[in-house]
Amino acid sequence: TAPELLRNFCIIAHIDHGKSTLADRMLQLTGVVDARAMRAQYLDRMDIERERGITIKSQAVRMPWGVGADAYALNMIDTPGHVDFTYEVSRSLAACEGAVLLVDAAQGIEAQTLANLYLALENDLAIIPVLNKIDLPAAQPEKYAEELAKLIGCEPEDCLQVSGKTGAGVVELLDRIVERVPPPVGDAHAPARAMIFDSVYDTYRGVVTYVRVVDGSLNPREKIVMMSTRATHELLEIGVSSPEPVPTKGLGVGEVGYLITGVKDVRQSKVGDTVTNASKPAATALGGYSDPKPMVFSGLYPIDGTDYPILRDALDKLKLNDAALNYEPETSVALGFGFRVGFLGLLHLEIVRERLEREFDLALISTAPNVVYEVTLEDKSVVTVTNPSEFPSGKIGEVREPMVKATILAPAEFIGAIMELCQGKRGELQGMDYLSEERVELRYVLPMAEIVFDFFDQLKSRTRGYASLDYERIGDEAADLVKVDILLQGETVDAFSAIVHKDKAYAYGVMMTAKLKELIPRQQFEVPIQAAIGARIIARETIRAIRKDVLAKCYGGDISRKRKLLEKQKEGKKRMKTIGRVDVPQEAFIAALSSD
Ligand code: GTP
Repeated sequence: TAPELLRNFCIIAHIDHGKSTLADRMLQLTGVVDARAMRAQYLDRMDIERERGITIKSQAVRMPWGVGADAYALNMIDTPGHVDFTYEVSRSLAACEGAVLLVDAAQGIEAQTLANLYLALENDLAIIPVLNKIDLPAAQPEKYAEELAKLIGCEPEDCLQVSGKTGAGVVELLDRIVERVPPPVGDAHAPARAMIFDSVYDTYRGVVTYVRVVDGSLNPREKIVMMSTRATHELLEIGVSSPEPVPTKGLGVGEVGYLITGVKDVRQSKVGDTVTNASKPAATALGGYSDPKPMVFSGLYPIDGTDYPILRDALDKLKLNDAALNYEPETSVALGFGFRVGFLGLLHLEIVRERLEREFDLALISTAPNVVYEVTLEDKSVVTVTNPSEFPSGKIGEVREPMVKATILAPAEFIGAIMELCQGKRGELQGMDYLSEERVELRYVLPMAEIVFDFFDQLKSRTRGYASLDYERIGDEAADLVKVDILLQGETVDAFSAIVHKDKAYAYGVMMTAKLKELIPRQQFEVPIQAAIGARIIARETIRAIRKDVLAKCYGGDISRKRKLLEKQKEGKKRMKTIGRVDVPQEAFIAALSSD
């Protein structure tokens, strides 16, 4: 397709404002998915996306629009809305010329509406403002059109009104996209340059690479080069997703599609890399994406130690599909061999863990998540700590923790509740603005460690679900942080060490020792459980001794039952971890790490 007839756009919105539903209607109206094959959230391919009703991965689809000489090809990229997945959004934006900014007409502008709009503006995209869900009785499209127009500097009449549910206004929106989104520009005669914006591993087809062609063209059977690695591959198949893969004779300037090279190694097709022709290579690569930086770390361990190689392989495969995933091997006294994995946030952690468990049939345990700390020792050397058990034990000069700038949008009546929450989380108010009479925007600087865990849940419950939150990293600050260790009979249990603010150390110690007392079975001898900061004990519980006798329960003669019990006990022994002299069933660690 000639570039003049192409339109590449994405849909950006706050979570739940209806992107996926609107995308469904577009697929239907353009005829690429017929009514029979239609199901809700068509593009959310992963089970986990469908169950949770959220989009995790971006998806690109090509749709025809218009007839005859005016037949346009629209490439739509559906993007996730949750703050953890902002990096997916920014990658999609780089492949587009326009963005549909979708706002729920019953909710108005929310925190991620702003965050995504700013990302789109940074990428110089044409913005099409749209109010969605106008079928809802609570919709107030006129009121929010004012808000939206004020935000992006247009007239309220420029805001289209649609319903992804009923399909109202969607035809007009498709026409508006053709009219307002500029066609892609590139040099058709230059050596090919195509940006890899996604890669997935497919069991049957190997690595499938999604690209957006900027200059030149890519054609089947020719040799291509990945510019960062210089690796050469033959293009076995090239095509577009519509939304099922459709092979084509090639991809030209501005086109979005997929490549198959028969490569099986996931590392050969890196998101952000530039693809060029081997016979006529481009001189310079396109500006790639900056790799997203993990914000939260957690240890991931297979419950069955023999699954370790499967976990390693599974992480390698997920990494291809998820540039933000980072991991290194790690061993723990309590949990055995595993990985220290870096995530963008807690939702990202949950999703990765769930995908590993489902797609690779693994049973996993994850340690309590933590952020990254910079520890300056007395000799001025700096240690980066991603695992609390590696926190230096000697004299420490300073501990720095990552900070975020948080933006909270909420009805004005909740200002007091929000301020109270933020103060309790060591936050500092930076400013406050009224977006309208009843809506405020509060800006805070907060330690990331305080915000990534239960902050969002608390914010939601204190504002009856009305507040929305967005945050971005803004550098480090020194704080009064200490490492709390948990000791069993004097031995540190690495998986339970935590870095916490001095004021919260005692509470953490009391909570953990009490919990372990409940979970660890009695031994032949007394076992002290202690919480300590360095050599100073801050909390203690004791597990009293008993004589372990599994046969005690069986009064009388049922021999076969006794044998069964003894066997069970032997089985259980295999799963015991020994800390010092104390035998701890692995279940105890798992329970201690999984409950709150
Ligand atoms: P994420 O992918 O998680 O960011 O969400 P999303 O923005 O894609 O939202 P989604 O399309 O999943 O819709 C969220 C909820 O709003 C679902 O329960 C939809 O059924 C509902 N919804 C979406 N569009 C409309 C609409 O036009 N009218 C009504 N009444 N409900 C809608």
